[in-house]
Formats: sequence, structure tokens, C-alpha cells
Amino acid sequence: MSNTNTNMVLFLLFLVTLLTIPTPSISDTNSFIFGGCSRFKYSPGSSYENSVNSILTSLVNSAAFSNYNNFTVPGSTESETIYGLSQCRGDLNNDQCSRCVGRAVSQLGTLCFATYGGALQLEGCFVKYDNLTFFGVQDKTEVVKKCGPSIGLTSDAFTRRDAVLAYLQSSDGGGYKNFRTSSAEDFQGVAQCTGDLSYSKCQDCVSEAIQRLKTECGDSTWGDMYLAKCYVRYSEGGVHSRGSNNDDENHNDDEIEKTLAILIGLIAGVGLIIVFLSFLSKLCEKQRGGK
Ligand SMILES: *[C@@H]1O[C@H](CO)[C@@H](O)[C@H](O)[C@H]1NC(C)=O
Ligand SMILES: *[C@@H]1O[C@H](CO)[C@@H](O)[C@H](O)[C@H]1NC(C)=O
Repeated sequence: MSNTNTNMVLFLLFLVTLLTIPTPSISDTNSFIFGGCSRFKYSPGSSYENSVNSILTSLVNSAAFSNYNNFTVPGSTESETIYGLSQCRGDLNNDQCSRCVGRAVSQLGTLCFATYGGALQLEGCFVKYDNLTFFGVQDKTEVVKKCGPSIGLTSDAFTRRDAVLAYLQSSDGGGYKNFRTSSAEDFQGVAQCTGDLSYSKCQDCVSEAIQRLKTECGDSTWGDMYLAKCYVRYSEGGVHSRGSNNDDENHNDDEIEKTLAILIGLIAGVGLIIVFLSFLSKLCEKQRGGK
């Protein structure tokens, strides 16, 4: 009996371990990019906690109607006033945006438990709150840089990459857009500013990100440059800026189902081996006892 219990515990442990291994998928809007928290902590049960909850709830609710949202919840003093914004990638529909912000907010709650401020970027959306006003404030701090393999682009490919980046910097399509995409044959690029930035601040931020991509990622086949208020990404073969239609969503679900099926197969296999081994050891004990 106790043997079975031990096996069960082992089995469950194995299951938990397997299920918590993140499955990487570049086009997945849920992938975690970065997160950070303020160093100030509030005490649970305080009025500040209520404000945090209220602002995060408002952000989740409003994401079902708009890709960019901002809220201010006044506190008893200026230092208790809280500001929050959410920005979904421009090609997400309302449904995808609201699911992404919901996920980001729930991860923020865990990552930044009881802190005065926090920010979190998933593949498809960005959420930030703080007691320091940051609306419309430029911030070109480099937060995350990722460069693909530097296998050496041909000069033709280099030209296409630079054309993609140049278009991201110049394109305003006859009106201010804080989300831009561009492509040149096999190269694709995407740029996104948070909606609180003015046109000129967004231009300034995107220019900086492009400059850094060029100098820091050299001739990599893909690169991601996340600054505090904007990001620019490019890739050969176009592995990002997906998620604009439901096919991709279904595709992701299919992938998850496939992964789950493999996991369940593995778990069943290991379970069988454990049962078999414990059967063998009992058999051995019996034989030894019989002699
Ligand atoms: C944010 O709250 C912390 C902790 O109470 C405080 O020290 C800080 O001055 C506040 N920031 C602003 C801008 O009010
Ligand atoms: C905040 O959102 C309101 C609409 O709810 C908008 O009018 C305003 O310009 C936004 N402010 C900033 C700084 O983005």
C-alpha cells in the first residue's frame, strides 16, 4: 500500500515537472519577454492594494475594446496615486488583446507581489503600473536585446534587412501609427510604441531601437530590441508579428494539444515502468523469502 503511495507521489512530481517546462514558441502571444518590479512594498490590506487591484482590473476589462488603455487612480496623497497602462501589439484583435492582458496581469500579480509598481511584457502585450507618473514620458532604456545567429548575411540580404528597418522608421502611412510592419522578400520587421508616446517621441524611440539593432545585432538573421517605451524586431523568414488571425490561434492550440498528447504518452510510459519495477522488486523479495 505504502509502495503504491510512493509511486503515486513520484508520478505526480513527474507530471508537475513536465507541465511546468515552458514550451518555446516564437509566434505565441503569451510568451514571456520581461518583467520587473518596484523596490517599494506596500502592506497587504492597505488602500494602495485596492488601487492596484482596481487599476489592473480596469486594464483587463478595457483591453476587450481597445489595444491601448490608461488609467489613473488617485490616492490620499500624491505618492499613493497610481498610474497604469496596457498596450497590445497592433495586429491583435480585441479578443486576443483581452486574453493577453489578462495573462500579463495575473503574472504581474505573482511576480510583483505587493510592490508599488511593476511592468511585464508578453509577446502580444505590455502592462505597467506605478505610483510615479510615466504617461508620455520618453524612456529609451534597453530592457531586452536578443540577437539571432550571426551566420553572415549576404550583402543583398543586408540591404533588404536595412530597407525593412528604414521603412519601420519612416512609415506613418498618412497618420500616426504606433504599430508598424514592413517586409522585403524574406525579411520582416515590426515596431511598436506604447500608446502614450507622441508621434515625435515614438519616432525617436524607434530610431534608437533600430540604431541599436544595427550596431548590437550586427548581421544576425533576426534581432529583438526592447526599450522601455518601444520595441523593434526583424527576422529573416518572418517568425514574429503573427497572431493577426484565428488560424494562428488554432494552430497554437493544435501545438499545445500535440505537446500534451506526447506528455501524456510519456507519463503513461514512465508510470508503467515504475509499476513494472515495483512488481519485479516484489517478485525478487518473494523469491528470496521462499528460499
Ligand atoms: C512611491 O511610493 C514609495 C513608497 O511609499 C515612495 O517612497 C515614493 O516616493 C513614491 N513615488 C512617488 C513618485 O510618489
Ligand atoms: C489616456 O486615455 C484617454 C482615453 O481614455 C486619452 O484621452 C488620453 O489621451 C490618454 N492619455 C495618455 C497619456 O495616453
